[in-house]
Amino acid sequence: MSLSASNAMTIVATAAALSLPISFCRTTKLSTRKGVKGGFRVFAVFGEQSDIEKKNAWSTLFDVEDPRSKFPQSKGKFLDANQALEVARFDIQYCDWRARQDVLAIMLLHEKVVDVLNPLAREYKSIGTVKKELAELQEELGEAHRQVHISEARVSTALDKLAYMEELVNDKLLQDRATTSSEEASPSPSTSTQSLDSVKRKPPRKSLNVSGPVQSYHPRLKNFWYPVAFTTDLKDDTMVPLDCFEEPWVLFRGKDGKPGCVQNTCAHRACPLDLGSVNEGRITCPYHGWEYSTDGTCEKMPSTRLHKVKIKSLPCFEKDGMLWIWPGADPPSATLPSLQPPAGFQIHAELVIELPVEHGLLLDNLLDLAHAPFTHTSTFAKGWSVPSFVKFLTPTSGLQGYWDPYPIDMEFRPPCMVNSTIGISKPGKLEGQSTKQCSTHLHQLHVCLPSSRGKTRLLYRMSLDFAPVLKHVPFMNFMWRHFAQQVLNEDLRLVLGQQERMNNGANVWNWPVTYDKLGVRYRQWRDALERGDKQLPFTKST
Ligand code: FES
Ligand SMILES: [Fe+2]
Repeated sequence: MSLSASNAMTIVATAAALSLPISFCRTTKLSTRKGVKGGFRVFAVFGEQSDIEKKNAWSTLFDVEDPRSKFPQSKGKFLDANQALEVARFDIQYCDWRARQDVLAIMLLHEKVVDVLNPLAREYKSIGTVKKELAELQEELGEAHRQVHISEARVSTALDKLAYMEELVNDKLLQDRATTSSEEASPSPSTSTQSLDSVKRKPPRKSLNVSGPVQSYHPRLKNFWYPVAFTTDLKDDTMVPLDCFEEPWVLFRGKDGKPGCVQNTCAHRACPLDLGSVNEGRITCPYHGWEYSTDGTCEKMPSTRLHKVKIKSLPCFEKDGMLWIWPGADPPSATLPSLQPPAGFQIHAELVIELPVEHGLLLDNLLDLAHAPFTHTSTFAKGWSVPSFVKFLTPTSGLQGYWDPYPIDMEFRPPCMVNSTIGISKPGKLEGQSTKQCSTHLHQLHVCLPSSRGKTRLLYRMSLDFAPVLKHVPFMNFMWRHFAQQVLNEDLRLVLGQQERMNNGANVWNWPVTYDKLGVRYRQWRDALERGDKQLPFTKST
């Protein structure tokens, strides 16, 4: 007899591993195939009866309702994508229940073995009887174990089916979207123009269209608060020059210490103001000494009569250690967003890096984790294996979720921010855990500011919820910068290559797959914004 306490524990653990929440979507090709007229033929994978009715001390673990009575009534028919997804979800529920029943069977058999071996009971039985009973139980246990393995395989198949269905549903959404936009008079792809030819042609299956030369930024994209610099980079007598939406601006502090943002071009003869200096809260042009306040009013014009001159300025505020501007023509929204790291995290590095790629392409890259084991082989993903299936799950909101199988939470925050929290267990061991299961974390904020044409001003902030002492280690900021630059360089050569291809007409979203969900949603959000949709997808309000 071989069923020991540790075996029993293993079985309990297996049961726990099999008990996946229904929202944990994965997939199968086995009993699913595409039907006619965009429908799907789906066959649910259930059939046999439960033979376990008895409950025992462990029963709370197995107290899951038999889901068979709730099976969606559509077997054998052609279903639409969502009905098919429902059936696939039901399969998971059923397999989960079935697996619990199988494990319960083993637990009950284990109890019987203990009874048979009980010394008190043995006194009333001959050795021969005990042996016979044990042999029978061993046979039953062998059968129950086989059943558990079958259940395991079925769960895996059902998960495969669910992921496959999810992929089909996503594809269908993309197709519907492509059809709608081809029917519209003037679809406006987010980063590019379309040739007349490509508008007339039926859009290829499964594609967003992001191709052609990088175009001017759409004005609607400007109607947001944009963080453009870190507070610590702007002293009382310094300036921060920056490009935003293809216009040069300069930040400096007024006499009251409050920040201002004015055009970085002198009204007199267009000299860049950031070549000058800041004195008593005014920025001074280095050419003929004209001086401007933070609202752009020229307050001094040496060697001539003071004319009434004002240069452009933007609303500018300071919050959460960042300087924000509103570049849009619409009135600014009343509240500034918050980009603080989560509670318990300390900021360890703040970097600003100018990159020669269009900000949408950079966002696409940051919102994609599936590339890590292929691209970041010299940095953070060194030694990572390539998972058989990578996906991004969004249980609560369309633009926020977590990666499977990586312990990484991620969020696209309109208009151009990416928040990510990475659970750190052991170096090189990222798979198979959730972010919550890890005791230490790294939080990253990437702000991809559209600067000049085909360029991005990247603001990067890194925070940790451990090792606060690192913050005080000399030159640590240089080390973080070096590491961030190394990671970016691994991406940059690829994204630059994409940009070159895109400029020559290639579509950088030609064939999205399951793990591209977050990037695709970013594009859908941006396209809807640029089209002028009242309600933007994946957001509660416009
Ligand atoms: S160009 Fe600025 S003062 Fe003359
Ligand atoms: Fe990357």
